Amino acid sequence: MQNQMNYRSQTMTKCHSISIWMMRAASVAVVTIASLSTQAYVHAASSPAASPALAHYLQASNGMMAQAAQAKAPAPAPVEVPKPSKEAEAGGAVFMNNCAFCHGRDAAGGESGPDLTRDKLVADDKDGDKIIPVVRNGRANTAMPAFSLNDTDMQNLQAFIHYRALVTATQKGGRRGVDVSDLQTGNAADGKAFFEGAGGCNKCHSATGDLAGIANRYEGLALEMHMLYPVNARTGGSHAKVTVTTADGKTVTGVIAYRDDFTIGLHDSNGVYHSWSTSKVKYTIDDPVQAHIDLFPKYTDKNVHDLFAYIETLK
Ligand code: HEC
Ligand code: HEC
Repeated sequence: MQNQMNYRSQTMTKCHSISIWMMRAASVAVVTIASLSTQAYVHAASSPAASPALAHYLQASNGMMAQAAQAKAPAPAPVEVPKPSKEAEAGGAVFMNNCAFCHGRDAAGGESGPDLTRDKLVADDKDGDKIIPVVRNGRANTAMPAFSLNDTDMQNLQAFIHYRALVTATQKGGRRGVDVSDLQTGNAADGKAFFEGAGGCNKCHSATGDLAGIANRYEGLALEMHMLYPVNARTGGSHAKVTVTTADGKTVTGVIAYRDDFTIGLHDSNGVYHSWSTSKVKYTIDDPVQAHIDLFPKYTDKNVHDLFAYIETLK
């Protein structure tokens, strides 16, 4: 529910976020806007006096032009791409290893993760104050895992995401979105080899045991998401167990239901929800699918597509 609302407000404030990016762009890098229509769009979006209707019209026509241009397979537009900072460059490597196969290499959205370059949370973020808590805590009821990366990696990651947002804002073109045909590019035999070999999947799974028929239970993106970061089919949430120790020494254990920098919430064995301020309690998280998170840095795009092709054969 909350996610749906996020996405709605994300769409509604797209103009707003692009304007923020253009304002930041102006202060950090020389940006050459080569396209007239992009320039008009940017002006419309960043001037508070511009009518929202005009901004929307320009946005829509910009998207249409991008589509038309795509259909004719044009030469790339001559847009000068701003240079990444050292932090952004280092963050790119961290992103490639941990995030790219869900959010896309350029952070513009992938098969299993949203576009971060036209994202309200990213637009509202200042030096990682919104991005880093999400990366550190994950989103308890979604396929967004929690990552324990060091502070430097976190800082570099947020710099990279901002850099990609800046690049996106300087380039015209419609939303890239999910290309479902990407899902079909894998090689099942290579996927099987990875499953049994380098991926080590068969240490915990068996194609004829727990994963038999998995492709009948989920399909398409849902199947890929379960393969990358399985969430509990029953609760739609993470499998992670959390044990909270309160100030008076009482412990409560349950399935994690909510987590951010300030609050930890769980469902106990009776399904009752409890939550605490993280500053008042101690807690430990035991995530049975931590192995999946540990696998992220080992995947190449090809591994992911091959694995998916293989998993799809388990009917
Ligand atoms: C297994 C897939 C997956 C991986 C890996 C992943 N993400 Fe995500 N991420 C998601 C999904 C799905 C969401 C949307 C969650 C929701 O619905 O609230 C998301 C949401 C986010 C958001 C919040 C966007 C918003 O507007 O609410 C940020 C920021 C983010 N991811 C950054 C990262 C970073 C940085 C990494 C790597 C360290 C990463 N993600 C790795 C799937 C993934
Ligand atoms: C250290 C153990 C471990 C390893 C290694 C591991 N997984 Fe998992 N995997 C799990 C656990 C735990 C779950 C959640 C089990 C459940 O939902 O019943 C899971 C769930 C899954 C699911 C979803 C199952 C379902 O019914 O929803 C798929 C698909 C999957 N893993 C594929 C893989 C692949 C592919 C690899 C190798 C790249 C892999 N796993 C490596 C532990 C592991």
